[in-house]
Amino acid sequence: MDRAAWDFLISAAGRDLLAGLAAADLSENNLLPLLTRLRRDLPAEIAGAALTLARLRGRAAEKFSQAGSMFFTTDALEQSSGEEIAGWSARRFVGWDRIADLGCGIGGDTLALAAVPGASVIGLDRDALRLNMARANLSAYDRAADWIQADLRDPLPLALRQISAAFFDPARRDSGQRVYSVRGYLPPLDVIDSWPFEALGVKLSPGVDLDELRPYTDTGAGIEFVSRDGELKEALLWRGAFGFRGRWASRLGPDGSGETLIPLDLAAPPLSEPRAYLYEPDPAVIRAGLLSELAARLNLPMYRLDETIAYLTADTAVMSPWARCWPVWDWMPFNLKRLRARLESLGVGELTVKKRGSPIQPDDLLRQLKWRGSGRPAVVVLTQVAGRHSALVCGIPSPGI
Ligand SMILES: C[S@@+](CC[C@H](N)C(=O)[O-])C[C@H]1O[C@@H](n2cnc3c(N)ncnc32)[C@H](O)[C@@H]1O
Repeated sequence: MDRAAWDFLISAAGRDLLAGLAAADLSENNLLPLLTRLRRDLPAEIAGAALTLARLRGRAAEKFSQAGSMFFTTDALEQSSGEEIAGWSARRFVGWDRIADLGCGIGGDTLALAAVPGASVIGLDRDALRLNMARANLSAYDRAADWIQADLRDPLPLALRQISAAFFDPARRDSGQRVYSVRGYLPPLDVIDSWPFEALGVKLSPGVDLDELRPYTDTGAGIEFVSRDGELKEALLWRGAFGFRGRWASRLGPDGSGETLIPLDLAAPPLSEPRAYLYEPDPAVIRAGLLSELAARLNLPMYRLDETIAYLTADTAVMSPWARCWPVWDWMPFNLKRLRARLESLGVGELTVKKRGSPIQPDDLLRQLKWRGSGRPAVVVLTQVAGRHSALVCGIPSPGI
């Protein structure tokens, strides 16, 4: 979006046009006729930008309750933190009265930080258009912040030197490609090495290589893995006065509420052959390595099937949003013929295959089995049991489990 398009879209006339477009048919089929109509009154670039924004607002409704009045570019929306995720990290800043949001983009995190009671926020980005959008987006929520355009690879601007707490969200995509190493983030993670903040939170990708974080975790920083609806969403590095150490696991519920498991320095659960129930911990628990802490939370003796696999097994079923649980009907070292015979004798109908730590792909197994049973549904879990490639035949979780 160029400057002229932005100036128009933020004007009263632009907002009216966008409000009208919100009620229009924005489906793929209608785009050309709509664009042709807009171009009668507007330069092509502005007409195109208005249509793109109107469509982005629709998409952004998943992340933002006020999406219909907000401003985005395609990339900036994709990179932005939605209300739930941003609200979760902003909670850690309660008690700080001045907060910097570094790499603020279109303001997803700034919005949440500006809602921290008693806090004033400065958002910083190197991109002037994103800063303009962030300002407008905060006013869509009746919130405000100060804004600085600067490059974080340079020494921090003077205005930030008086601030004690900061949130930093570097870009983890470069020219559309996902970046895996923290050294490739934009800007790279090591810009934080010279920053003087007493408390610093950094958003990282959930798959971040923990070895790359050792300079920070070996010197007192902690990492929080956050999941929502059973999906790993992000990792956060918390340094300084936040008081984190080790790896934490947080789980956000559908209503935005959340719970955290913290490391208790417990010994790993003992090993065992599969017992009556198989548990698959929430991915944040797995990434944080908090299997014993999960067992303590569920108040249940739990066992690992294998040193290297994050499945747990137990004698009883417990209902918990922290783990999925399947009744184990049988298990065996993997053997196609034996497995097929056992599925037959158990009267299995519809079959699902899952795997963790197995070389066999679920689709390949389903193809090889050519399963056409007509009994009760079952799940075959391909995994390791004490270093042996094994198959567990499980029932479907009971309602609520
Ligand atoms: C992941 S996005 C931030 C998203 C933001 N937290 C949100 O919720 O909307 C990263 C931001 O860092 C900015 N950025 C990248 N390199 C930068 C640099 N060297 N200095 C300042 N900002 C930079 C990008 O312009 C981008 O807006």
